[in-house]
Amino acid sequence: MSVTVLVGLGWGDEGKGRVIDYLAPSHQIVVRFNGGANAGHTVIANGVTFRFHLLPSGMLYADKTCVVAHGVVIDTVSLREEYELVRRTGPPLAKLLISDRCHLALPYHRLLDQLEEESRGQEKIGTTGRGIGPVYADKVARKGIRVCDLFHPDHLRELLTQTVEEKNRLIERVYGGQPIQLEPLYQQLLADAEFIRPFVTNTMTFLEGALTEGQNLLMEGAQGTLLDHEIGTYPFVTSTSPPAGMVSLGSGVGPRRISKVIGVAKAYATRVGAGPFPTELNDTLGTAIRERGKEYGTTTGRPRRCGWFDLPMMRMAAFANSPDEIVLTKLDVLSGLPELHVCTGYQLDGQMVRGIPALALDLERLTPLYQTLPGWKEELGSTHAWSDLPSTAKAYVSYLEEQLQVPIRVISVGPSREQIVVR
Ligand code: IMP
Repeated sequence: MSVTVLVGLGWGDEGKGRVIDYLAPSHQIVVRFNGGANAGHTVIANGVTFRFHLLPSGMLYADKTCVVAHGVVIDTVSLREEYELVRRTGPPLAKLLISDRCHLALPYHRLLDQLEEESRGQEKIGTTGRGIGPVYADKVARKGIRVCDLFHPDHLRELLTQTVEEKNRLIERVYGGQPIQLEPLYQQLLADAEFIRPFVTNTMTFLEGALTEGQNLLMEGAQGTLLDHEIGTYPFVTSTSPPAGMVSLGSGVGPRRISKVIGVAKAYATRVGAGPFPTELNDTLGTAIRERGKEYGTTTGRPRRCGWFDLPMMRMAAFANSPDEIVLTKLDVLSGLPELHVCTGYQLDGQMVRGIPALALDLERLTPLYQTLPGWKEELGSTHAWSDLPSTAKAYVSYLEEQLQVPIRVISVGPSREQIVVR
């Protein structure tokens, strides 16, 4: 019996999907516990690329159970499309379970997400447009509609009537948008209810039973710690909590059950959407890393901003998650660079900064200080052993490990399942 937690240490897109896929064979159950369809986890299996947004990345293993726990917000239309696509194109799928307590991300959440972004003008957050902010706001404000509501048509109609009326006032009067039509939404939800019904259960009871039976759980975090609305670069954050502490809240598995926390960090930094990014490379090198690393959003296709590895940010993320180890991804992307820079600290107005400033305006003004390390020319894609990595690549990994005081045991050197170096 074990509970392994996998979380992103950066601004998301650390390559968590492929790490889950790598770890899945030693676990019976893969659990999503946060986020929604804003996530984009890529798994390449037998040469075929699968992009998961709502489904756990263990779906390609027929002998697993994949759980979407109550911390996840569900867009039934996206879920249905994704499930049907993977079922058509993939191998036999894992058994899927969805919590009856998941909140629903509905069309008015998406619309409000877009309208709120438009109204921010230059101050846009650059959300994924999946309605994440508005649906989590409703959840906390106790105005949400949940999966369990779908199976009681009269009750659902009543809830929806109240909510749509309120949302339409906001959409029309505040933002001048087009109102949501109640009846088509109601009918669509009734149809989606029939699709989702076979998967719905009390997933907390299921997970409790699975642990009692001695099964191994793999908790798949979405987004990254620096996007957390408590400790990330607020307000340029998401509205759910990506750090390991969310596992217990979002799945119901208590903190003392957790056996191991694995943090995933990319060998360089990326960020998609707006917000402070002290080590960003706004030059041809940044563009070259983006092209080489195929740094385009899985959910939105947006180009990701690229920059150097940022130790102060990663130290904060490591402190927040207390990982037992770090998986370092995309080391292969750095091949060919004559030298590499790693940010070791910041200055603000000529003074050294301790920790990460709270104010986005200050974060935007930081001057990063860099340590320079030698690069390597060799391509790493077919390296399987630590001893076969170029000495400068090993020195780079060892430097990060020493600075973060967390062991780096697994390194990915390419997008496929096999392109992994285990130390
Ligand atoms: P939201 O989660 O759609 O509200 O977006 C808020 C911020 O989080 C934006 O900067 C998004 O680009 C970012 N974000 C949300 N989900 C992901 C993800 O899975 N990977 C990377 N960035 C994300």
